[in-house]
Amino acid sequence: MLKQLEQIRKDALAELENTQIQDELHQWRSKNLGNKSPLMGVFTEMRDLSKEERPKVGKLANEVRQALEAALEQKQAALKLAALQSSLDTEKLDVTLPGRTISRGRLHPVTQTLRRIYAIFAEMGFQVYRSREVESDDYNFTFLNMPAHHPARDMWDTFYTDKEGVILRTHTSPGQIHAMREYHPDPIRVILPGMCFRYEQVSTRAEMQFTQVEGLAVGYNITFGDLKGTLTDFARRLFDADVRTRFRASHFPFTEPSAEMDVECFICGGEGCSVCKQTGWLEILGSGMVHPNVLRYGGYDPEEYSGYAFGMGPERITMLLHQIEDIRYFWRNDLRFLEQF
Ligand code: PHE
Repeated sequence: MLKQLEQIRKDALAELENTQIQDELHQWRSKNLGNKSPLMGVFTEMRDLSKEERPKVGKLANEVRQALEAALEQKQAALKLAALQSSLDTEKLDVTLPGRTISRGRLHPVTQTLRRIYAIFAEMGFQVYRSREVESDDYNFTFLNMPAHHPARDMWDTFYTDKEGVILRTHTSPGQIHAMREYHPDPIRVILPGMCFRYEQVSTRAEMQFTQVEGLAVGYNITFGDLKGTLTDFARRLFDADVRTRFRASHFPFTEPSAEMDVECFICGGEGCSVCKQTGWLEILGSGMVHPNVLRYGGYDPEEYSGYAFGMGPERITMLLHQIEDIRYFWRNDLRFLEQF
């Protein structure tokens, strides 16, 4: 058997020596080291040997196996090197050619606006709170003071799913309830950014999918003055240090009282132009004092706590900042548009 092993070693190494193609190494391996190889056969037959013989044969068999494995590895490396060498010899490489410039990516214009908004609110002590895009009907409507069949639900054209009561959120406001339920009875100061979805006819001003940034503050003695001060300061930081703002009475089921905030048109300085539709003002967000029912759904006693909330559309703000006239550019994936920002 010892002799047989030596023969196995000799044959296998000789065969390997003659192999010049990388693919053939695979075959060599299964033939000489695989389960059905003569070498492995020896390992099996060893069981029938006497106690004296077995260790000797075993030792040599292991040696042969290691030798074959080492030889294979060496051969693999050698063939690889040879392949590289031959490709260098045959294919010309001009190291003096100038390199190709790598085109740098950039952030989507709406992402840039979002980050500016985060930075401004971060300075004012607001944390970012993220919540889900797929919501229950309760969070999107009921807990926001819009019970089933409430006509105000018509303000939001909703995508429903096959699952009863499961919808795509139409605004970031359901995040208010998530935040309140997580933090009550502690005070809250958060912004809630994210994607919203509406079953809407796409037009220059409306998309089916868009981002919003919601804001929520809940605590003791929070007043409408706090709301106005915070949002006016936000507008100054985002647009211009002396931009004028105004609040117009409005209605949302989840805030009372409610207001929309306009900023003075920075295109015409308030004179009236096509961007502000000759009014001199641009609407940028909806807001109001959190409705007592909403506070209650969130776990806060409205007798003790008060709060304000607001919601803005970063696409719309980006359109105003850069005088973009069609909201559909944001999803069109046209580099000629995207590369301008
Ligand atoms: N969720 C409202 C909308 O999508 C905006 C809003 C948020 C208004 C918070 C008031 C308070 O239109």
